[in-house]
Amino acid sequence: MPFKRKDLLGLRDLTVEEIEHILETAFSLKEINTRSIKKVPTLRGKTVVHLFYEPSTRTRTSFDIAAKRLSADTYSITGSSSSMVKGETFLDTLKNLEAMSPDIFIIRHSSSGAPHRLADRTPISVVNAGDGMHEHPSQGLLDMMTILEKKRRIDGLTVLIVGDIAHSRVARSNILGLQKLGARVVACAPPTLLPVDLDLMGAEICPRIDDAIPHADVIMVLRLQKERMQQMLLPSLREYSIRYGINGRRLERARKDVIVMHPGPINRGVELSPEVADGPHSAILDQVSNGVAVRMAILYLLGQREMSRASATREETA
Ligand code: CP
Repeated sequence: MPFKRKDLLGLRDLTVEEIEHILETAFSLKEINTRSIKKVPTLRGKTVVHLFYEPSTRTRTSFDIAAKRLSADTYSITGSSSSMVKGETFLDTLKNLEAMSPDIFIIRHSSSGAPHRLADRTPISVVNAGDGMHEHPSQGLLDMMTILEKKRRIDGLTVLIVGDIAHSRVARSNILGLQKLGARVVACAPPTLLPVDLDLMGAEICPRIDDAIPHADVIMVLRLQKERMQQMLLPSLREYSIRYGINGRRLERARKDVIVMHPGPINRGVELSPEVADGPHSAILDQVSNGVAVRMAILYLLGQREMSRASATREETA
């Protein structure tokens, strides 16, 4: 099935078939990452530009590794290294980069909707690598891949999302994507950290973490995003940790085969204790490994579209 979209902006836009197609592609590409020579020529001659206006370790590195494993050339611009610090506007910067004929822009930005603004104004494919408090589709996809790998299904599972859901683009992409694939999503957080539109997204709320844990197949723990909090929304980190932190004692009430996930970076000892983060139920580093495969799949599918467009143009002009 060809992937017909120009951009990957969010999981809200994608059909079940498109999500499954990306995940199937990721599973088939994952094997490349275990070879001694981890490179295939699929995107040779393609150019990927990373535009990261917010910090990132996992997403930026894994998109870069993914592009290079598919033989694309990559270039990276960060907020502090771009001419925006000299006063150039976001759109002027992007128009200038567009004039250098890249094939895919990968953008992380603190403003919700920034990748959509870019995608509307450029013929280049745009991938959202996290926009404000809106979506982080590649994270949602790698989380779904990890659940499929560990549980063999998503349909019928209960996924408990714990923590700072209000500020989390990871939560939003997961809530939208997991429900499309048939999961039940339960949210548990202090009332100040629950988004107002949670019920519109179809998620249930369970106020007490200890009531929710025994029913969960997957516990997805989120980072407290202190950088996005406009005011103090918690009495103290210590109280948050006592009431909502996932630790070994709490996990004793969970199903024997529960998996614990976290998108990173972790505030160790706040939302997750080290014994759980590094323990037998943790799927955190599997998420990171699958991040490379999912991002290879995204670039491969968008790159294939570019290639079929280019060959159609060649046929038209022949
Ligand atoms: N999960 C995630 O987006 O991590 P980074 O901020 O390190 O990219």
